Amino acid sequence: MSQPLIVAITGATGVIYGVELLRVLKALDQPTHLILSEAAGLNFAIETPYTLEDVRALADVVYNNKDVGAAVASGSFRTRGMIVAPCTIKTLSAIANSFTYNLVVRAADVQLKEGRKLVLMVRETPLHKGHLELMTRAADCGAVILPPMPAFYHQPKTIMDLIHQSIGKALDQVGVEHDLFRRWSGHGKAAAQGQHTQAVQPAQAAPPALPSKH
Ligand SMILES: Cc1cc2nc3c(=O)[nH]c(=O)nc-3n(C[C@H](O)[C@H](O)[C@H](O)COP(=O)(O)O)c2cc1C
Repeated sequence: MSQPLIVAITGATGVIYGVELLRVLKALDQPTHLILSEAAGLNFAIETPYTLEDVRALADVVYNNKDVGAAVASGSFRTRGMIVAPCTIKTLSAIANSFTYNLVVRAADVQLKEGRKLVLMVRETPLHKGHLELMTRAADCGAVILPPMPAFYHQPKTIMDLIHQSIGKALDQVGVEHDLFRRWSGHGKAAAQGQHTQAVQPAQAAPPALPSKH
């Protein structure tokens, strides 16, 4: 079996990204070690139909966020990296400053010091300069800053299509093969010669009429 991927879910809006990530990894038979921040627990209740038990059941191993002596707190415990989905500004701030006050941050810091992949799906808007500086600092230490910013070139039809595109981008970073969204395969020449391997389908319905200007 491959080395486990650490998944952390923190209390930004969009905890569904973390849930779907766990569900996809389980379907792909990829082992996961899960850490939930206390604030994430609150957001499951606010934003999703899932209980903490439902979410925990998706992972192979679940740690208490206060347990800074857990296996993933040590660099000698091998992992394939870590994805924080979503990542709050508070957790970003702690990671950027190696302020390892809980297991999420300690495990993230360990990935960085060991030269492993750490993907932060940072979620906040708008962003002030301090937020941007924290992202720069984390990126300078080796983190991949991957905010869940939806793309539309794959013509999403549902919210889940948007979620899967974002988590697919995160899985690309840690080398997990998936088929979560239709990848862009070029435009210019290939399109002219009808060689699209992933042809973009025409929209199913006409776009709604814009209100007339008065
Ligand atoms: C409904 C809800 C949505 C939130 N969304 C965000 C967000 O998008 N980004 C963020 O940085 N914090 C957000 N917060 C605030 C964090 O939950 C809060 O700062 C918390 O202390 C973060 O702790 P954690 O990083 O340990 O999860 C949100 C809080 C709530 C209740």
